[in-house]
Amino acid sequence: MKHVLPTLLAGLGLLATAPAARAQRATLDARIAQLAAAEQAKVVGWRRDLHEHPELGNEENRTAAFIAAQLKALGIEVQTGVGRTGVVGLLKGGKPGPVVALRADMDGLPITESTGLPFASTVKTTYLGQPVGVMHACGHDTHVAMLLGAAEVLSQLKKDLPGTVKFIFQPAEEGSLPGVVGGAKLMVQEGVLENPKVEAIFGLHIWASAPVGQLQYRPRGEMASSDRFSIKVIGKGSHGAKPWSSIDPVVTAAEIITALQTIVSRQTDLTQDAAVVTVGTVQAGVRYNIIPPDATLSGTIRAFSPDTQQRIWAAIKRTANGIAAANGATAEVGIEPYVPVTFNDPVLTARMLPTMQRVAGTKNVVEIKAVTGAEDFACYQEKIPGLFVFLGGTAPGTDPATVADHHTAGFKVDESAFPLGVKTLVTLAVDYLSK
Ligand code: NI
Repeated sequence: MKHVLPTLLAGLGLLATAPAARAQRATLDARIAQLAAAEQAKVVGWRRDLHEHPELGNEENRTAAFIAAQLKALGIEVQTGVGRTGVVGLLKGGKPGPVVALRADMDGLPITESTGLPFASTVKTTYLGQPVGVMHACGHDTHVAMLLGAAEVLSQLKKDLPGTVKFIFQPAEEGSLPGVVGGAKLMVQEGVLENPKVEAIFGLHIWASAPVGQLQYRPRGEMASSDRFSIKVIGKGSHGAKPWSSIDPVVTAAEIITALQTIVSRQTDLTQDAAVVTVGTVQAGVRYNIIPPDATLSGTIRAFSPDTQQRIWAAIKRTANGIAAANGATAEVGIEPYVPVTFNDPVLTARMLPTMQRVAGTKNVVEIKAVTGAEDFACYQEKIPGLFVFLGGTAPGTDPATVADHHTAGFKVDESAFPLGVKTLVTLAVDYLSK
């Protein structure tokens, strides 16, 4: 019996000595680094082409054709028209194993570019009835280019890859027109995580507030959920000189606005999670001496756990209905869930942290505070474990606080950020598949 177990374990590769495994990994890391460096000129070229030809969400037709052509040239199986303009590529490795997904978003924004770059966008369109420019003002052009680079590197490692990599090029991350389902949510509905079934997903976002060379992440709630709420207070109108004839919806709405402030300050355990309840619009009345029959508020809710999110929904309803009732009015509360919490699975995050530290260097992998912006990568993470990482995009030596932010006309990315992005995507996939 004595010698059976060691033989069995050795057969399974479980007794490979640590130094040998480390040496093997170092060789592979060096190969990936070399391949990623060799991709840089292409990645920059693709990125500039995409940057010059941005398309709004759900209209990424040229972008999709561009991606599909690159993937097909690599011999990758390609599916188009997923979630309208999404493209899905499937790279089957030479060895059996699980399926892991890498995701990039494709859409630009209705912003007129002012960077003055030689490849700046001059595209114009009409958005919600208004003439406006189109710009890759969030860096999604860089995400597409880096994922294409990663696809090319992974194709070159295909023979030894123990499993399958699914490349998800997703439309409309910035949201669809009102009432339209799109982006990650639609791709998930259309089965992007099935056939073959994806076990885990990774994504990255170029980040202006981090220097080139850095990876930033946060376990658990990394970016907030984003929900829209509206409250219509229905009272009774009267002459402004005879308020006792009215049920004043303006005063009732004012009380509700004030009381909503206590949902975060008095009812949320701030040692666990941050949260935000913001009232952004207040609409009532047409003339100074008329008490109107109703008033409408709308706002946004941000939370970092589904539990906090649901408590806030309940508290908004309770507060609005209770205060309206106390004033003799009624309230109609609407809550539209938009994007869930970008929740980095703690087990997956802990498992991939050494990978990120190897790729970027331990001191360049930084755990950050929660970000109150939202990201629809969250829709994949609702279904399967996922990890979303920020990639430094501001030139070393430049104070990130001084650069143009995402979603502004002057937004720029330092292209020297790309090799680390490509390496990170490739190594996360390879390490995950290699378990
Ligand atoms: Ni973005």
